[in-house]
Amino acid sequence: MSKQTKAQMLEELKWLYMELYDNEEAFAYFEKVLQKNADARRPALRALDEARQEGPDWYQSHKLLGMMLYVQNFGGTLKEVKKHLSYLEECGINYLHLMPLLDSPKGKSDGGYAVSDFKKVRPKLGTMEDLESLADACHEKGIALCLDFVLNHTSEEHAWAKAAKAGDKTAQDRFFVYDSWEIPNQFEKTVPEVFPTTAPGNFTWCEEMQKVVMTCFHDYQWDLNYANPMVFNDMVDNLLYLANRGMDVIRLDAIPYIWKQLGTNCRNLPQVHTLVRMMHLACQLVCPGVALLGEVVMEPREIVPYFGPAEKPECDILYNVTTMCTTWHTLATRDVRLLQYQMEQVCRLPENCYFQNYLRCHDDIGWGLDYRYLGQFGIGEEPHKRYLNDWFTGKWPGSWSRGELYNNAESLGDARACGTTASLCGLECGILEALDNKGSASLDRGLQCDLMMHAWMFSQTGIPVIYSGDEIGQLNDYSYHDDPSHWEDSRYVHRGKFDFDLAEKRFEVGTMQQILFDGLQKLKDTRAQYDAFRSDADVFVYYTGDDRVMGLLRRYESQTLICLYNFSEHPADVKLHGEAWKDILSGEELTASGDGTAILHFDGYGYRWLMECVKGCV
Ligand code: GLC
Repeated sequence: MSKQTKAQMLEELKWLYMELYDNEEAFAYFEKVLQKNADARRPALRALDEARQEGPDWYQSHKLLGMMLYVQNFGGTLKEVKKHLSYLEECGINYLHLMPLLDSPKGKSDGGYAVSDFKKVRPKLGTMEDLESLADACHEKGIALCLDFVLNHTSEEHAWAKAAKAGDKTAQDRFFVYDSWEIPNQFEKTVPEVFPTTAPGNFTWCEEMQKVVMTCFHDYQWDLNYANPMVFNDMVDNLLYLANRGMDVIRLDAIPYIWKQLGTNCRNLPQVHTLVRMMHLACQLVCPGVALLGEVVMEPREIVPYFGPAEKPECDILYNVTTMCTTWHTLATRDVRLLQYQMEQVCRLPENCYFQNYLRCHDDIGWGLDYRYLGQFGIGEEPHKRYLNDWFTGKWPGSWSRGELYNNAESLGDARACGTTASLCGLECGILEALDNKGSASLDRGLQCDLMMHAWMFSQTGIPVIYSGDEIGQLNDYSYHDDPSHWEDSRYVHRGKFDFDLAEKRFEVGTMQQILFDGLQKLKDTRAQYDAFRSDADVFVYYTGDDRVMGLLRRYESQTLICLYNFSEHPADVKLHGEAWKDILSGEELTASGDGTAILHFDGYGYRWLMECVKGCV
């Protein structure tokens, strides 16, 4: 595919801009924003841009391993994170996603997703200089850095919102501000709620203004009005400013919501795609080494359009949210059929569709499954969500999973689940049982399950991203129950502080920390070692004939790799056709019997990465 020249990009940008805004003056301002940021880009970053010009190989490498973490939970300040880079290197991390760290009012911050100043770091965490210095240190170690850009809304304490409160009409025009509830009430008829229990409604009455303002997320997060070109201009300026601080990936937060229109659900509207495409073009012109990661937590069919057509990309990387929640569904049902169906679709996507894979992130697990597909088995959406929530909160008889509900709006039957990977996989329950002298069987099962889930995630194409603490199996942190600024938001159950003392146990053989830490290392090293994991490998679903066992076949040139996962706690046998295989994780060698098949035995939650050996194993 031939790349667009700068002139072509600018031409397309102008065309899209005029189509949307029809405003020459605003476009002239926008061009100045681009020029100012291009001029300000440091030589070291320009060198990175240059090196990355050849293609997306840098973020599509199978040698990349990501981690996401909160600065306040991982040492407390940016300076401390810098000191702990050696730990991250030991984990094999070369892609680091720092959770929101820009200035944000305490108590009304939504975990940093209510930004009051896009050009200032929250003082408790450090300064912009600290961020740049961390970025430089990361680059020296070959670690790419990702930062959130929260573009749908600002904090009610952002300068624009403050000016709006003070009566400044130009500032009010940057938001959706109404004199009465008439139009807001019309919106409410078609716009669903994001947080039905913790933040119901999409509008808030503002005492200072004596007006109503749109707040789709929390009442202190004011939705920006992108129909105003100055909002777009200044927000792109903020985005490029952050890119110029040395970020390699910018996470576009909650993008489906950024265009609002009366009479619609205000999600995924066509204008959103124009805006994202324009942001992509702006980055290509100013900082082409920067990739855009889109956060699109939507039903499966809404997600892929955010990649845009291959020749006119929007997001470079998207969260693989459907595979993530389908994976947890599979664990709770011990039935891989929906996962197979889902992977069939992922495997068929064009090459430009590149995902970030993950088991857990800072948010809840929303059950955005393909209910049309599940319907054929008589599985209804509402009862199934109830089952999943019961399983993952330990309410279902015999469940060893320990999570909490999130936004449990009974009327909608639409609650979601929270919890760390370890607690959801049964480790919390296992530890308590072991302490209670009930033996270690439950703990062992939890460990095996946790490792199997990670192995599954690592064998997919895309960037595997670990949630900080998962590498040592950190459990839920219930201390948020006592913190008035957080106790309504159960997502804090999996946002605990990283326990550096616990991490020391990774050196003690036989501890769960050591088993998990080394297990993840093994997965990462093996993934990096074999071409079968390359992002341009062919990938197919491998049908095992057992609905409990998921299979993925990866092929690159002469390498054929079959990855198998038993999603059930019970043993399972799988028949393989071929000659000989070597498990590249355990080293175990297998040979078919005379009839060209082999029966493989899997323990509960067992998994194998089997490389096909053509002329005997080497
Ligand atoms: C995104 C974030 C989430 C936040 C929301 C509002 O979805 O992941 O944590 O609450 O945006 O900014």
